[in-house]
Amino acid sequence: MTSKPTGPRFYGRRKGRPLRAGMQALLTDMLPALRFDATRPLAAQFGSANGPQAELALEIGFGGGEHLAGLAEANPATNFIGAEPFVNGIASLLRHIQKRHLSNIRIWDDDVRLILPALPVAGLSQVFIMFPDPWPKKRHAARRILQPEMMDILARLIRPGGQLVMASDDPTAKIWLLQTAMSHQHFCWTARCPADWRDRPSHLPATRYMAKAEKASRRPAWFIFDRCG
Ligand SMILES: C[S@@+](CC[C@H](N)C(=O)[O-])C[C@H]1O[C@@H](n2cnc3c(N)ncnc32)[C@H](O)[C@@H]1O
Repeated sequence: MTSKPTGPRFYGRRKGRPLRAGMQALLTDMLPALRFDATRPLAAQFGSANGPQAELALEIGFGGGEHLAGLAEANPATNFIGAEPFVNGIASLLRHIQKRHLSNIRIWDDDVRLILPALPVAGLSQVFIMFPDPWPKKRHAARRILQPEMMDILARLIRPGGQLVMASDDPTAKIWLLQTAMSHQHFCWTARCPADWRDRPSHLPATRYMAKAEKASRRPAWFIFDRCG
């Protein structure tokens, strides 16, 4: 079993409803082989799924995993790391991986910030932060995943020409994500017209939170930034 580094405090939920036996079995049977191991070379971890030159993408907080699984299925030549501490979400992603026979996903079942130092500099083609916990109260702003220091780390990890892709339905979070990314010298917003942030880009799968938001008439926004400069 991989020893986990210790690090910043995680404020989200790690457990939800008790898992049904089938979902628990997925965790027991599949997760050990698919768990991202920060101490091993990346190429060895993805095995024969793709060659060592394959692009690598990261999804932070994949929730139920439908977005990550959709991306991995649509882009079989890209390797994906998904980070999510919520065990019910991890089990749900494993079910997607099993059903769709996906071999290009590795899972970090904890806070993403613990593995960022182990990822290769300029080694990521894309980072996805879809519907992050908004922490809308001002006094909780420090809990939001996107912080200026996180932008510095992402600027180091995303290769020039790569992308940071984000979405939210929360008014405070939308402004926060946009302002935080726009304030960074190495990220350039790609939007040219309102449809570019109001409509889900056709290459991005739907997410569970997106569906919830739309059902509640909260309009999501999508923000795509190029790693520039
Ligand atoms: C509001 S949910 C959205 C889930 C999913 N992206 C979606 O759109 O359906 C935010 C997710 O981010 C995860 N999360 C929050 N902080 C995180 C961190 N530091 N590292 C990894 N995941 C994190 C939470 O556990 C939660 O599942």
